[in-house]
Formats: sequence, C-alpha cells, structure tokens
Amino acid sequence: MSVPPTPDPLGPFLDRTVLPPCWTVRFQPVSPSTNDWARSAAQQGAPDRTVFVADFQTAGRGRQGRVWSAPPGTSLLFSVLLTRGAPAPHLFTMLGSVSTCQAIESMLGLEPRIKWPNDVMVGTKKVCGILAEATEGGAGRFVIVGIGINVNAGAEAFAELPNGSSLVLESGMRVHRGELLVTILDRMDQWLSLPPEDLHSALWQAWDQRIWRRAQQVRVREGDVELEATVIGGSPDGTLALRDAEGRLVRIVAGEILL
Ligand code: BTN
Repeated sequence: MSVPPTPDPLGPFLDRTVLPPCWTVRFQPVSPSTNDWARSAAQQGAPDRTVFVADFQTAGRGRQGRVWSAPPGTSLLFSVLLTRGAPAPHLFTMLGSVSTCQAIESMLGLEPRIKWPNDVMVGTKKVCGILAEATEGGAGRFVIVGIGINVNAGAEAFAELPNGSSLVLESGMRVHRGELLVTILDRMDQWLSLPPEDLHSALWQAWDQRIWRRAQQVRVREGDVELEATVIGGSPDGTLALRDAEGRLVRIVAGEILL
C-alpha cells in the first residue's frame, strides 16, 4: 500500500535532520508494526536508541491485545529501541509518556495529562497510546517503547472512537510530525543523560505530576475486578495508588482506568 502525499513528509525530513548523538532513525512508508520491526532489528543487533518510524501500519498493536489503527500519514507512529540507561522497564514507559507530554506542552501550549499507565490525554480525549515491550534477544535484554500519536487526523477518524482525538483537533494547529518526533527524542535524550541514580526519582516525579484525574473518582479494572476509587497518584514502581469508597488504599498493577 502506498501513502498519499502529506504536507509534512516524514522521510525527506528525517533524511536531513540532525538527532542528538547516539540516536539513529529508520523510516519506512509502511510497516506492519513499528514495534515488530524494532524487535526483529534488535534481534539482528540494532543498537540502543534506534528509532523505527512509519507513515502507516498495517497491523499496529495496542495494549491488552487491541488493534491500533490510524489513517495513512496522519499520525506519528514510532518505536524506540532502548537497551541501557534505565534500571527498570517501567521507567522506559514513563520516559515515553513524559517526553511526549513535554513536547506537546512546548510545541502547542496544551496541558496533556497521563492516564495511567501511559495514555496521553488532552482534557477527556486520548491523543496518544504507548505500548512498551521488554524482550530478551540479540545482544541481551531490550525494551521497545512504541508510541502512536494522533497528530493531524480530522474528526472523521474518531467517528467510532468518541474518546479519541488528535493534536490538530485539540489545539487548532497543524503539527509537523517530524518536528514533533525530534522534540520528543530531544526530551528523551535529556532524561537519559541524567545520572542513573537521579533518573528514577526525577522521571517518576515528572510522570506523577501529570497523572490524569488526580483526586478525582474513576472506575478502574484489573483482571475481572472493577471498582470506583479516587486517584491518589502514581508510585515510583509505576503502579497507581487509589483510595476506595471505604477509605482503603488500593494499588493497580496491570489494569486500566475506564473512560
Ligand atoms: C495503546 O494505547 O493501546 C497503545 C498503542 C500503541 C501504538 C503504537 S503505534 C507505534 C507502535 N507500533 C505498534 O504496533 N504499536 C505502537
């Protein structure tokens, strides 16, 4: 499948873009899933901080086995291969959501929030999803942080996704996907250049400060269990702390907040 021309062609932009030292970008107009592309490249020895970008995915994947689809050329779809720089995989997912929020804040002046664990929201609308996967293979253990951002998709793309939106719809400004990508990678690079002993607490604080619906009541699901509880905040280990109707502290490890 070919991708129709867009006002912000990614391939030529990335060819002439200078990234922070040690980062490289690979671009394909169409990929089944940039996470799968990153995984097979890692198994063949692709280095730390290689970024895999596509204009369109034919088999994009979301969390919990869901499909992630986006109209061709409207979204920023990429996966970052990381093999060092943080001691725990959950920090890499925080790295993805915090860096994405920072880029949206600086480029568009919006106030995105992180719907636990790692969806990026503008108001009540999801504009970005993150799928982080840790695997052994090739040169050792690696983490793939896959990020899908709805950038320039119009309202028709969300006709059947009432909780989804795009940056252009929320800000009224078209965004160059290449510039957004480079801004996110710059933020990631800044975080990863912190000494490891500082990275964890600084990144957790930046993530926790942006937690969506803090002090508000939400409905959460973990496995077969659903409950109403009030969000306290994110914990350093990546779990979400809430208080239930009886005042008990509850921690969610692998569930989600329901919209
Ligand atoms: C979610 O919200 O469920 C996570 C969605 C993650 C989508 C991105 S798009 C780039 C990367 N490649 C994939 O197949 N998935 C992630």
